[in-house]
Amino acid sequence: MIENLEELDQIVKKCSKCNLCNGKTKTVFGVGNKNADIMFIGEGPGADEDKEGEPFVGKAGKLMNQAFIGIGITRENVYITNIVKCRPPNNRTPLKEEAKACLDYLRNQVMIIKPKIIVLLGNTALKNILGDEYGITSSRGKWIEKKEIKYMPTFHPAALLRDEGKKIDFWNDLVLIKKEADENNWKI
Ligand code: URA
Ligand code: SF4
Repeated sequence: MIENLEELDQIVKKCSKCNLCNGKTKTVFGVGNKNADIMFIGEGPGADEDKEGEPFVGKAGKLMNQAFIGIGITRENVYITNIVKCRPPNNRTPLKEEAKACLDYLRNQVMIIKPKIIVLLGNTALKNILGDEYGITSSRGKWIEKKEIKYMPTFHPAALLRDEGKKIDFWNDLVLIKKEADENNWKI
């Protein structure tokens, strides 16, 4: 295990453990509070993230930021990252082997940050972290506790752009997260 995020970021920048390294512009390691109580995990960088090297800066990210502001979640207080750190071609879902290759980095990030809550944004995050037996439609909005971490699966913000009807569920899930954090005095 690597002990600090800067060092791990440097390793990820040079990583060639899967084919995604060939198509990327920048790796997208993660941003936010190094001691965050709440961690958000997406799928992988899109075009904007690949260009900037920062997660959730494109259209989906802007929508997520708006929801954060509305609910009272401060982007700088939480930590935001993805299952894969390099952009999949044409924004396709990462293959199982790509996610597997990259998951060690995410596990190491979790070990360093030690979040109390992990928010799983969409099926890719949910299935790669909690297992293929889970599905976002039936799991969203319900706490799943494992090894002293509370997981909250919810829709990926890009899904809200495709289907407006999902916005209310996403909002309600963020409200649950905010409430849990406030009750425990966790930074959010
Ligand atoms: N979608 C993701 O899953 N992650 C990002 O960083 C941006 C869009
Ligand atoms: Fe390495 Fe992850 Fe990039 Fe694959 S996606 S090359 S495992 S950093």
